[in-house]
Amino acid sequence: MVSHGWLADHAVAGVALLPGTAFVELALRAGDAVGCGRVEELTLEAPLVLPQDGAVSVQVHVDGPGESGRRTVSVYSQTDGDTWTRHALGTLADDAGDTARADADAGDDVPWPPADAEAVDVEGLYDRFARNGFGYGPTFQGLRAVWRRGEEVFAEVRLPEEQWAEARHLGVHPALLDAALHAMAFGGFVRLPGDVAPGGDTGRVRLPFSWNGVSLHATGASALRVRLAPAGPDAVSVTASDGSGRSVLSVDSLVTRAISREQLSREHGTFHESLFRLDWAPAPAVNGAGRPGRWAVLGDDDTTSLPTALKSAGAGAERFADLSALAESVTAGGSMPDLVFVPFEGQPGTVTDPDTVLSVDARRALSADGVRTVTHRALALAQQWQSDERFTGSRLVFVTRGAVAARAGERVLDPACATVWGLVRAAQSENPDRFVLLDLDDDEASLTALPRILSGDEPQLVVRAGRAFAARLARVQTTPNTAPATETPDTPVWDPQGTVLITGATGVLGSLVARHLVAEHGVRHLLLTSRRGGAAAGAAELADELTASGASVRLAACDVANRSALADLLASVPAEHPLT
Ligand SMILES: NC(=O)c1ccc[n+]([C@@H]2O[C@H](COP(=O)([O-])OP(=O)(O)OC[C@H]3O[C@@H](n4cnc5c(N)ncnc54)[C@H](OP(=O)(O)O)[C@@H]3O)[C@@H](O)[C@H]2O)c1
Repeated sequence: MVSHGWLADHAVAGVALLPGTAFVELALRAGDAVGCGRVEELTLEAPLVLPQDGAVSVQVHVDGPGESGRRTVSVYSQTDGDTWTRHALGTLADDAGDTARADADAGDDVPWPPADAEAVDVEGLYDRFARNGFGYGPTFQGLRAVWRRGEEVFAEVRLPEEQWAEARHLGVHPALLDAALHAMAFGGFVRLPGDVAPGGDTGRVRLPFSWNGVSLHATGASALRVRLAPAGPDAVSVTASDGSGRSVLSVDSLVTRAISREQLSREHGTFHESLFRLDWAPAPAVNGAGRPGRWAVLGDDDTTSLPTALKSAGAGAERFADLSALAESVTAGGSMPDLVFVPFEGQPGTVTDPDTVLSVDARRALSADGVRTVTHRALALAQQWQSDERFTGSRLVFVTRGAVAARAGERVLDPACATVWGLVRAAQSENPDRFVLLDLDDDEASLTALPRILSGDEPQLVVRAGRAFAARLARVQTTPNTAPATETPDTPVWDPQGTVLITGATGVLGSLVARHLVAEHGVRHLLLTSRRGGAAAGAAELADELTASGASVRLAACDVANRSALADLLASVPAEHPLT
């Protein structure tokens, strides 16, 4: 999309797709290179979803000639080194006959617009397309005028001027040919479901599916005169000429296929970057030798070993008891350090020794109270740091150990420190450049490397044996759906005899969940609660609706923040319909 920005102008159901006309262009070009200029047929098997970032590799494969001289052509794509996906398969043939026919057809005296054709208003067409899921950007909004004569549709299409140079390098610019197909909207070329009026929303979008007999007679056009005519069920023939009537392209038939928007979204999910995981990639090298600036460490030496460790590693830092002491020093004329380290390892509530994870002490340290204490401390520090103008321009570095499992085989050893990461990450997204998260190991090389590592501006770093790793999003690799049938059981997950308790059931989401469980999952016993219970607006109607759908519904007033009220509610669930 960076190299071919106009591709972003072709979005269907919110998903940027390579237009079907681009597959034709690829096949025509490949055919031209092997002396088979006619695309005898080309079937589009899977949409090619374009990622917003990164590149897609495309491969056009042409087999050797068969007995008749025809060749098989296929178009594949690959994103991020993933497996190759085939999108189109077809046959190429010699186009000698077509070229001769096109030459014979060429003529300056073809009347345009055609005699007896009736002009059609195209105003608002692209708004209508957008409402039906076709997001055509400026490059693809090329339909200028349309006429109708019986079952035929005639159209004028033109590329925006900024695409003319690109068009000169192409057989036929995909956006131009795509625009020609937009005129299909003015003919009865596709059968609509009985209950949908022409132009009505079917919840589906139509995409080119199968091209037959495509021949290109002239290249590089930036405008076309087009004739569309019926060519069988859901099929249309296309002939296109330039402004002087010279033949440019002909398509014996193009069959379109309806695809549901949900299906397209699924394709999007499968091929697109919709699911990410956190990855720890080697931190980018920092230019220069690394100038760490001035450092300070908070805390007394007897509660943290960090200042001593930094000193012995050759990276000295001033020490302050806490942020208030640092602020006072700045007020008294001291300069503000560039980085202020606050050690969290070895604090009450944190665990440092992996071997003691299961010991009594460690279990005590892992208690909820311990985690809460540590998290509150981190919160107080972040708030004080953020609210005191004396700290502006400097960064507070939360130093942890065992908070992150960043390398293969690592485990999160310190849940309290992990919680600090969670909290500070949220603070970072609201206050960029104010906080750094730094998870260290015990290797002295890690301390020695800190001046170099911390002279960059990575907000989250893990240092292991002197090497820094930075947080990056990585695409979750999609795997083909090879799960055995037993993993997607037909049996309902919800026991139809069991009761489903929904808290906040009278609200927007709760009532949606209740309806969904009854309609889609066969849930038959519902306990719906909110503080107002049956007195809440819409509660009675919801219960009536669910009851009419076959569920037995009890509305209960219960404040779930009230422990004993919640216990009473749970005790009231009948034994024959236990919670499921
Ligand atoms: N709607 C969204 O698109 C959306 C998106 C993201 C997150 N959320 C979050 O999801 C939650 C539900 O959203 P919603 O749109 O369904 O909100 P809602 O329409 O305001 O419904 C909240 C429901 O919770 C009940 N409730 C509130 N406090 C309760 C308590 N202490 N004990 C028992 N019931 C209680 C309310 O009824 P009573 O007042 O009678 O107790 C009501 O039934 C909210 O936390 C919301 O912030 C919603």
